[in-house]
Amino acid sequence: MFEMLVKSGDNVLLDAPTYSGPLAASHHHHVLPAISRWAEAPGALGPSSVPRVLYTIPNEGNPTGACMTCERKQDVYELTRKYDLLITEDDPYYFLQFQKPWAPPTFLSMDVDGCVLRMDSFSKILSSGWVFVRETSLFVFPLLSLCFQLMVSQLLHSWGPEGFLKHTEEKFKFLADLCFNYFNYVCFVNVAEWHPPMASVFLWIKLKGIKDTQLLIMERALEKEVLLVPGGVFNISSSDPCPYVRAAFSLSTPQQIDEAFRRLRRLIL
Ligand SMILES: Cc1ncc(COP(=O)(O)O)c(C=O)c1O
Repeated sequence: MFEMLVKSGDNVLLDAPTYSGPLAASHHHHVLPAISRWAEAPGALGPSSVPRVLYTIPNEGNPTGACMTCERKQDVYELTRKYDLLITEDDPYYFLQFQKPWAPPTFLSMDVDGCVLRMDSFSKILSSGWVFVRETSLFVFPLLSLCFQLMVSQLLHSWGPEGFLKHTEEKFKFLADLCFNYFNYVCFVNVAEWHPPMASVFLWIKLKGIKDTQLLIMERALEKEVLLVPGGVFNISSSDPCPYVRAAFSLSTPQQIDEAFRRLRRLIL
């Protein structure tokens, strides 16, 4: 997407930290971290510093789970209008919100100038494409992709909007239970800090007393079969030390999560 929207050397604005996909795609561009820091003094770096694109995950961002409030969205929208930026609103976790009413209006619904590109995803709600294709030759992938689109379209037509919402609610009830009931009590209390997420499938955990989680996670935790992502990979500068780790809990049972946290706790203490 960045390839289409920006030229090499253009500035792009990202949340910080952010999902590693856009970070990888931003290699040839000047990445300006976080709209909050740029917005403090937008003109300070001269007119050439004005970014062309803002990439943001407004609901339950990956990896932090942070959400934008309605007021914040309005402020950001006004700022992007003023500086003529395109907003790319990546919102794959919108339908994974655990509490009603759902999040404030999307950027797309606020848009009056046609400057918002919104991206949803079925991979979190129906199934990831990878599950279907991993046994299949890559040569048939384009064909499969067309087949999936037809299948999804048929499914949505047969469900209708109510059926779709019912499906998402039922499917993610267990995730909501995990977040409300379980993450408040895990054995981790003295060695880590976190906020139980209100949607999505990630827990962003700060390990107390650890300056950088890279080696702990990639070597010692991996040895104990604990699979977490060191927070540094979500930083714009991935070599900056980072005390956070990201856990994904969409496919794990509470027992597995509990065991993983116990093993990790032993590594920290
Ligand atoms: C914020 C964000 N955007 C996009 C994606 C990728 O979505 P898809 O599976 O539809 O390619 C992910 C996947 O983890 C994500 O977290």
